[in-house]
Amino acid sequence: MGPEKQALDTRVETALTEGRTIDLGIPAKQCLMENKMDPCAIVIVGASGDLTGRKILPALFNLFINGGLPDPFLIVGCSRTQMSDQAFRDKMKDAVMQFQDLDNSKWPEFARCLYYRSIDYHNLESFTELAEFLRDLDERFKTNGNRIFYLAIPPTLYRPVSELIGRAGLAEEGEQNNGWSRIVVEKPFGRDLETAIDLDRSIHEHFQEHQIFRIDHYLAKETVQNVLMFRFANSIFEPIWNRRYIEYVRITAAESIGVEHRAGYYEQTGVLRDMFQNHMMQLLAMTAMDPPSLFEADQVRDEKIRVFRSLRPFPVDKLNDYLILGQYGPGEINGEKVPGYREEPEVSSDSLIPTFAMMKIFLDNWRWQGVPFFLTSGKRLAEKLTEIVIQFKEVPHSMFRQTLDEHITANRLILRIYPDEKIILTFQTKNPGAKVCLRSVTMNFNYLQNYTGPVMEAYEKVLIDCMSGDQMLFWRQDGVELCWSFLTPILVECETCGDRAEMLYPYTGGTWGPEPFHKLWQSQMTEPG
Ligand code: BG6
Repeated sequence: MGPEKQALDTRVETALTEGRTIDLGIPAKQCLMENKMDPCAIVIVGASGDLTGRKILPALFNLFINGGLPDPFLIVGCSRTQMSDQAFRDKMKDAVMQFQDLDNSKWPEFARCLYYRSIDYHNLESFTELAEFLRDLDERFKTNGNRIFYLAIPPTLYRPVSELIGRAGLAEEGEQNNGWSRIVVEKPFGRDLETAIDLDRSIHEHFQEHQIFRIDHYLAKETVQNVLMFRFANSIFEPIWNRRYIEYVRITAAESIGVEHRAGYYEQTGVLRDMFQNHMMQLLAMTAMDPPSLFEADQVRDEKIRVFRSLRPFPVDKLNDYLILGQYGPGEINGEKVPGYREEPEVSSDSLIPTFAMMKIFLDNWRWQGVPFFLTSGKRLAEKLTEIVIQFKEVPHSMFRQTLDEHITANRLILRIYPDEKIILTFQTKNPGAKVCLRSVTMNFNYLQNYTGPVMEAYEKVLIDCMSGDQMLFWRQDGVELCWSFLTPILVECETCGDRAEMLYPYTGGTWGPEPFHKLWQSQMTEPG
């Protein structure tokens, strides 16, 4: 026996004694960026806002530290606030320093890529001056006229700002501008079907589809991407991934945070627009789609579209049977008192905005006919938990019925996205001992197990893909419209019906949501011991 084989056997033995699973020790390929990226400038519109400091800049800085940015590379912050380049660098430094795991010694070098320009979001001249400013930077730093415009602004500004970017000639690509131009639009893309179509039409006046990147950061989460690898790079799951074997699917994105300082935005959106129209629908599509013939942006997105097309129109006349809405009241999280939604700063004291929703939906297609999908998301719940649960059917026939009076718990597969990135399979085994009795056990795979390479945060992945022009993890407009077509009638009914207030169940902050949901949740949540 060679020393390698011996070492492997020892590892397997130790793992078995410790009750852990182990992979076969085949070194994981380090999945770093493969292609060299074009030099470019990223123009962050809304640079003094929350998203820039909390997500975009830390992501860019981390990419810089790991050698994941093109060279040369520039960041140009733009917003209404008057600020010098230095003031912008200081502000961004403060934001980034909050993340203690980042290597701050690299900041001075990174800060040299940062520039700032104040702009008026409604003034063409301001944008033509920005164009001039960008051209100067291009010449100085040789970024070849390649630009990304990242709209980190309130959704009401997407339309006017994208239009002025276009009118200032900044959307043009090719010889004259000597580079490419891309626009990144955050969610929500519109607030219903009509406004989404309208926004798209307006952006398309200056940008073509290949230039438009509609973000959904959930898609860029490692474990969400892994759903497709798990399903389609293994042959054993697909044959059982259908109505014959699956009882129901539960997709949950629970949060313990409240609305924080985003009341202005949230009062206009609520949980259905904030989480369902985008993240929840994408999780649903990844779970339910058929395998594309090639792992390529449009083929993957085509398959997702087929899922959205199969969404059974929501029975709006029986809303209460399929939808539970809630709003958090005061409560306690981790021993600390937390205010109710209506007591949060800038929230109206009689707000009817839902902060929680559980939706039961069906897909009308061959694979999923009759299988309910329970989609749940809410703020100020007991803990932050994101997962996809595949609940399998019970065994068709219990040959143990003579010896066991207990009910045999069906298998369950959990694709855990947060807090731990895991795949958990529960199954039945015999309890050791003379008596015949069953024991539910779990087999766990931790996503980072035996991996030592760099880990990418969702926003880093989104930025990398945008710099490389890869639209796989971005929404395509047909998908946006299909999801709005599904949700708009629900929103209309919820927002206009006479018993709107009665439909909104209050729940105590820090619990698992409103009472009617609670019962359903508990019946599904019973985990094996
Ligand atoms: C955002 C929503 O898109 O996603 C927020 O606007 C929500 O309301 C957030 O808190 C959740 O993202 P994550 O990655 O923390 O699960």
